[in-house]
Amino acid sequence: MSEQSAAGALRILLLNGPNLATLGRRQPEIYGTDTLAEIVARARAHAEARGATLDHLQSNHEGALIDRLERLDYDAVVINPGALAHTSYALHDALVGCGRPAVEVHLSDISAREPWRGVSVTAPATRHQVIGRGWRGYLEAIDHLLD
Ligand code: DQA
Repeated sequence: MSEQSAAGALRILLLNGPNLATLGRRQPEIYGTDTLAEIVARARAHAEARGATLDHLQSNHEGALIDRLERLDYDAVVINPGALAHTSYALHDALVGCGRPAVEVHLSDISAREPWRGVSVTAPATRHQVIGRGWRGYLEAIDHLLD
């Protein structure tokens, strides 16, 4: 594992892409009724209970997510790229370029929806994907990085 903080805690960067700030009211039949703030709080509590730290950024802008990845002040990444998963080779390259292990999360089962959603161009830059598990998928992604 690459550089960890002085205290030895694994520093997890959680990234959420476009349209995920509206969780709770966005298509609740697909994405659930929990808000992003609630989900991030659970993810942070889960990471901290396991001795890790969690920093979070949600952005609707591809470049902001890439800029955050370039800071390299973390040891591992959990990312829900939203629809950028289906389109963004730039985000793929940033995930490879950061040199940190990453896990991709999708709340919904992207393999069981529109055909275009079944293809993630960012997934090959990650070591594992968790799809269709709702907000618990973020906790599973954290566990995958810590186990
Ligand atoms: C999503 C799935 C994407 O296809 C969609 O564009 C999203 C959310 C998910 O978490 O299920 O914004 O990433």
